[in-house]
Amino acid sequence: MRIALAVAALILLASLPSAQTVDPGRATFVNRCAGCHGTDGNGGELGPGIATRVPPLSDQDLTTLLKEGRPALGMPPFANLTSGESSDLIRYLRTIKPRGGFTPTRATLRLENGRSLEGVVFNQSLSDAQVLGSDGKIHLLRGNASSYRQVTSQTDWASYNGGMNGSRYSQLTQITPANVGKLAPKWIYSLNTARLQVTPAVVEGVMYVTSANELIALDAGSGRDIWRYQRPRTKGLIGNAAGGVNRGVGVAGDRVFMVTDHAHIIAVNRHTGSLLWETEMADWRQNYNATGAPLPVGNLVITGTSGGDEGVRGSRVENLRQLTRLGVDVNRRVAKRIGKAAQATSRVVGIRHAAP
Ligand code: HEC
Repeated sequence: MRIALAVAALILLASLPSAQTVDPGRATFVNRCAGCHGTDGNGGELGPGIATRVPPLSDQDLTTLLKEGRPALGMPPFANLTSGESSDLIRYLRTIKPRGGFTPTRATLRLENGRSLEGVVFNQSLSDAQVLGSDGKIHLLRGNASSYRQVTSQTDWASYNGGMNGSRYSQLTQITPANVGKLAPKWIYSLNTARLQVTPAVVEGVMYVTSANELIALDAGSGRDIWRYQRPRTKGLIGNAAGGVNRGVGVAGDRVFMVTDHAHIIAVNRHTGSLLWETEMADWRQNYNATGAPLPVGNLVITGTSGGDEGVRGSRVENLRQLTRLGVDVNRRVAKRIGKAAQATSRVVGIRHAAP
């Protein structure tokens, strides 16, 4: 059986501070339950969302459930929890909200420098908040309900290969040979897929992760979800994408680009998650599908389809010269990568994403 993978932000991202008060019930939940039910209790690969299943159960019901489990249905017993651990855990279970359970509300939050931030609050906890400001941009906040400070990432990783030179090299210096052995998970966010192959992209403290037809914006420091763009998987599709595979996004300006399972490319507003445009690359009924992370280059976004293993017809890259003619500086490495992608998959499509 495939094991559900999770996106873990390592200590590197702990540089986005989030003050945390340790709730023992939450700690038990994260250690013992989250692997199946998801860190936020809204469901994972091996267990259902329990946010709406807990309220009808009495404390006694829950105590019995934890002691005995439902082995036949995949819920193991936790007979070794002490009664103190069990009641802390149950108290925590009662705080779990359905995903989307926090209704975004318009509010004005006070910042520590005496200024204020007005906008739509996606989440607000005792230690952090995620806000869509009236400037149309996401603001990540840390602090407490009376005063917040803004945080961001020092360095971005805007595409599958990192920076535009595709070197996959990070200039961050916080991780060294001396401290690398101390890396530990800071948070875990489970995506609803058995085949997670995404390389997360991070821009201004916001992490963009995908599985097939699902794009989630997370606060990279706290793991809190900000928005989600989702559409149903295509029925009758074959190929890698049908198995849930999607390798991620490319981010340029205020746009996030990703491919859908049925070989469309879409652009989504990176602050709000709303769809900006969609273009069909190939007809999925002829076994084309798509999994790759698009690559924004200048005012183009370059992407490809797959289906070579499913008998689709390949096509050659014909547009490198066109790219150059459009004034896009395609360096040798990018050109080589496009060529490789074309060989490995089936075709590469260059699509204009902004007015030149
Ligand atoms: C190995 C995976 C797994 C783990 C670990 C796990 N669960 Fe479950 N849990 C399940 C499954 C599967 C179900 C669905 C069972 C069913 O259909 O009644 C379930 C159901 C539940 C329910 C709903 C019960 C109901 O009556 O509807 C609750 C509440 C729950 N689990 C809490 C927990 C807690 C708390 C923990 C950690 C101490 C935990 N689970 C750990 C797999 C798991």
